[in-house]
Amino acid sequence: MSVSRRRFLGLGGAGTAAVLLGTGAWDASTTYAAPAGSGNPFTLGIASGDPQYDGVVLWTRLATDPYAVDGKGGMPARPVRVEYEVARDEHFRHIVRRSSVVATPELGHSIHPEIRGLLPDTVYYYRFRTGREVSPTGRTRTTPHPFTSPRELRFAFASCNAWQDGYYTAYDHMAREDLDLVVHLGDYLYESGVKTNKRGVTTDPRFHTETFDLARYRLQYSLYKTEAPLQAAHAAHPWIHTFGTSRCRPARASATTAGSRTAGWPTSPSSTRASTARTSRAATATRPPATTGSTRTTPCSAASSAPGCWTVSAGRTPAGR
Ligand SMILES: [Fe+2]
Repeated sequence: MSVSRRRFLGLGGAGTAAVLLGTGAWDASTTYAAPAGSGNPFTLGIASGDPQYDGVVLWTRLATDPYAVDGKGGMPARPVRVEYEVARDEHFRHIVRRSSVVATPELGHSIHPEIRGLLPDTVYYYRFRTGREVSPTGRTRTTPHPFTSPRELRFAFASCNAWQDGYYTAYDHMAREDLDLVVHLGDYLYESGVKTNKRGVTTDPRFHTETFDLARYRLQYSLYKTEAPLQAAHAAHPWIHTFGTSRCRPARASATTAGSRTAGWPTSPSSTRASTARTSRAATATRPPATTGSTRTTPCSAASSAPGCWTVSAGRTPAGR
């Protein structure tokens, strides 16, 4: 998704300033400190998407209390700075980007930094930090250059992952596969309440109502996004999403779907290896589930720079190769 399209989509809801903040156009390295001692803010996971040959979009949404009824995720009603790093290796020895963006309450403290200047057809690793909390490490991959002709494309696709109809174990398998990308064909979320569900679990009444306003939609997204297999699949591969008819009522009413931006892949790869990831039954689950943890910051000392440590200062760095 281009910057102009992303901004266009955001203008109708949160306003220009907030969208600019969320996409990383604002470097706020000296203000908007994270709330101290409020718990893990990465309960909703991390993700990358819309891969291109020279970049990718990163995502996370801060939520120390993902099931807060007001949909605000337990976050304060003020902006919070989030730093991020992109590296060629999972130990972050070779960092190619380090910068920060501001997560605003208008966007539910979600961020979508757009990374550019990367190498084509290359694996990268990324992570976020706010305050002393560091997110799990994500893996992503750029697409091949448009003028190249790769011999194969490895992808998986998924659709219709209704939480109330089964478990997400297929996403665990997807996370372990060696894929170039994941395509979600739609219906990432359903708006119906989940009091009646095929998981055989008792859910909190806050999830029983039909999804009809922003707070309830954010709560419903939290219900889905805290699923560990789904988080693992997001963290392992870049995703390309298409709009599903259940994402909002107007879309369902018109029964139309819209396609996402193409990823720059050749139209006729010589071979493909695809797998599907429909929801399926599996072992136990309870609600609210245990959330994935963040890790504490390990400061980099002046004398040594241990793998995985964070330097104190944040700012833009030249892209490494
Ligand atoms: Fe569906």
